[in-house]
Amino acid sequence: MSKHMTRKATRHVNQNEGLIFEKSSPGKAAWKLPPLDVPDVDVSKLLGKSERKNLGSMPEVSEIEIIRHFTRLSTWNYAIDLGMYPLGSCTMKYNPRVNEVVSRLDGIANGHPYQPEKISQGALRIIKTLSDCLTEITGMDAITLQPAAGAHGELTGLLLVRAHHDSKGKPRKKVLIPDSAHGTNPATAAMVGYAIENLKSNSSGIVDTSMLEAQMNEDVAALMLTNPNTLGVFEQEIHKIADIMHAKGGLVYMDGANMNALVGKVRPGDFGVDLMHLNLHKTFSTPHGGGGPGSGPVAINKFLEPFLPRPVLISKPDGTLGFDYDRPQSIGRVRSFYGNFGMFVRALAYILANGPDGLRQTTEDAVLNANYIRKGLEGIYDLPYQSPSMHEVVFSDKLQAKKGARTMDLAKRLIDYGFHPYTTAFPLIVPGAMMIEPTESESKEELDLFIEAMQSIAQEVEEDAEVVRTAPHSTRVSRLDETAAARKPILRWKPEFETPKP
Ligand SMILES: Cc1ncc(COP(=O)(O)O)c(C=O)c1O
Repeated sequence: MSKHMTRKATRHVNQNEGLIFEKSSPGKAAWKLPPLDVPDVDVSKLLGKSERKNLGSMPEVSEIEIIRHFTRLSTWNYAIDLGMYPLGSCTMKYNPRVNEVVSRLDGIANGHPYQPEKISQGALRIIKTLSDCLTEITGMDAITLQPAAGAHGELTGLLLVRAHHDSKGKPRKKVLIPDSAHGTNPATAAMVGYAIENLKSNSSGIVDTSMLEAQMNEDVAALMLTNPNTLGVFEQEIHKIADIMHAKGGLVYMDGANMNALVGKVRPGDFGVDLMHLNLHKTFSTPHGGGGPGSGPVAINKFLEPFLPRPVLISKPDGTLGFDYDRPQSIGRVRSFYGNFGMFVRALAYILANGPDGLRQTTEDAVLNANYIRKGLEGIYDLPYQSPSMHEVVFSDKLQAKKGARTMDLAKRLIDYGFHPYTTAFPLIVPGAMMIEPTESESKEELDLFIEAMQSIAQEVEEDAEVVRTAPHSTRVSRLDETAAARKPILRWKPEFETPKP
């Protein structure tokens, strides 16, 4: 064990130093077949050109080796089931087991989207009930569950915005986006073909309504507003913001990925939002699972209904549910079938298990937890915006940077203390941002451990910043080339042989 590992660091670390990744040695196998009791067949005759003669260097391992290999690899990872995952903006909350039990029920797990509507009424009822719950929670009139992620919801939403303006014969050119926005917002607006105009936040970290007033005109299709924003601050002037937009025919699109701070308390439909997306894989506890499958439903006000993605779930005159494909103004389909059904089941299980009071409590706990951390770390880390925090709190590395330890170093050191890092360097308006979101899942004991770890790291920076600058010291590999990992990912092992040309 490294001399820089702390006592707590042993919590998630595999003690087997020196294990190697490659296990193969010639002649080993994880299988054994009984002697042949039927006539032998010439495989090459059966398969013809499709026979793969050269298996190259496929690994040769025994059963126990392969089991240990994968089990060991699984223990080198970090998960919400192991400890707190304070990634700000990601809302990495616990995925309750009841969700998994329900989603694995035979009739649900084995239903097929090509089944006729007549024998899919149960699945359609789940989609309908979830849609009703989400429209109630958001205060909006209708919803599509098709989009497969938050960013996909944004794309769907802005296509709806475009369809709305086109239908009025007045296409518009620009989308206003505050400088505190999530990076997916400008990317989405650009994909839909809009020019992006930046809105500067004021010193409280919210939209400056006088700037908005000055920038709003009839070329602007919409404002994309995250609320609470990525500083974890509620846009208190949201009514005024909506009035300014609506006065000139612009729409208010709300990035509702941070609804964890609002559910059961306020409804975007009541404060002037025209359309918004939700992240079921954040607010409604469905797994993020290695980038997917997610779900980013888009809730809308009535006037946008004709443009919703096709098909739309409807109640038929005979009382059954079914899909309506005859939607001439629809923006079209945005996802195969009707979205990620398994996620709908989990989100609905979460909503029904909590009920209205439980959901409200969840929101209160998420906000309380973020503020508990804020209080525990205020003064130790710089807090650039003093506005009240909602579900997350954003510090900066200003104090520690003087000793040469930046947000990334502090986050990496957190790994040695047995925690997943917080979000680094985002939002962009905070230089050296440290964005922390505990969610409602965490107990006071876990929050105290986290606060202690962060306090201890700040102390280390004072005493020996090098320990922090070179962290983590307790992991299999230390600092990776994160850019190469994102840009040129190697997602599976490949045997070293040439695939024979057909
Ligand atoms: C505020 C905000 N908007 C949008 C997104 C994008 O969601 P997704 O990652 O599902 O595409 C996120 C993701 O964390 C987010 O935090």
